[in-house]
Amino acid sequence: MSLNPSVYPVLWHIDRVLLIDQTCLPTEYKVVEITSCEELANAIKTMIVRGAPAIGVAAAYGMYLGARESQTDDREQFLHHLEQVAQQLRATRPTAVNLFWAIDRMLNMAYQSTAAVADLKEHLLQAAQAINTDDLQTCQQIGDHGLAALPPTPEKLRILTHCNAGALATAGYGTALGVIRSAWREERLERVYADETRPRLQGAKLTTWECVQAGIPVTLLTDNMAAHCMQRGLIDAVVVGADRIAANGDTANKIGTYSVALIAKAHQIPFFVAAPLSTIDFKLTDGSEIPIEERDPSEIYAVGNTRLCPEGVEFYNPAFDVTPAHLIAAIITEFGAIAPGQLKEQLWHLSKG
Ligand code: MRU
Repeated sequence: MSLNPSVYPVLWHIDRVLLIDQTCLPTEYKVVEITSCEELANAIKTMIVRGAPAIGVAAAYGMYLGARESQTDDREQFLHHLEQVAQQLRATRPTAVNLFWAIDRMLNMAYQSTAAVADLKEHLLQAAQAINTDDLQTCQQIGDHGLAALPPTPEKLRILTHCNAGALATAGYGTALGVIRSAWREERLERVYADETRPRLQGAKLTTWECVQAGIPVTLLTDNMAAHCMQRGLIDAVVVGADRIAANGDTANKIGTYSVALIAKAHQIPFFVAAPLSTIDFKLTDGSEIPIEERDPSEIYAVGNTRLCPEGVEFYNPAFDVTPAHLIAAIITEFGAIAPGQLKEQLWHLSKG
């Protein structure tokens, strides 16, 4: 099966990074050109590029852009500069571990290389491009493994997803939406139910846009409708992405994912997480150790220019929550669908490669 996703949110073009500006979709399809590490870090912070694997790919290019800005030929000075670039990128968003994974991979490559600085810069670009193309392939594999893990019903499936874990959130194709794309390709999908995903509305703005692009039937729900839909027998399975998975399988994903997992359990509907190995953080024993990003309150007290509540109200705006492993039927990776409790046994040795 050839790779043919129609959406590439992060691309290297001649001497710059091209990003689909995800803050403008679905009303405007706009591509932003990035030529410096600072611009790239800003694009991650402001969510022009978002979604764990896409952030990782973008950060890898950010490392190269930062490396390119260095004027020195001295290896020690260059590595010192690269550490500062890494620091700038690490400070953008705390939860998605793919960001740190990609930065560390680029840094390790630089430390291990004996090449002259000019050559090393070129090697860093090649390493970033490899992270980009690998992620695309990984998503395709996740999609196909996900197909095998879905309930083997004779009828076509109705799958609920939360947030956007699609092509836009990866190098292309998607993780959760990759499973959905594969199910659609194999005629095993009836339709997708997309939670709107307050407050940033990634489900309403991005997941529905991707589905429409791909010709996949999609129904948009507000976040408080999932229980009702499950009770009415409208949902056969839930598939979501992940931002960081602890060694025991506890999974951080977009805020609201945990409540979807709880209600899926209450209705005996299988709840799957689809994510690459690079999203698993084996250094963390369980989900309580996952850092949860808190974003600006303006995301919840206003819609556009309209304020939703009076002055004097306090706000809490966590961007992610943690779904305990016991609510997850399987974690679908590029190496297959794995029970959360088996992650360490089956994947830890691969993560060190
Ligand atoms: O805040 P976002 O939009 O970056 O959050 C994205 C998610 O929570 C996704 O579900 C997750 O990153 C997986 S993307 C394949």
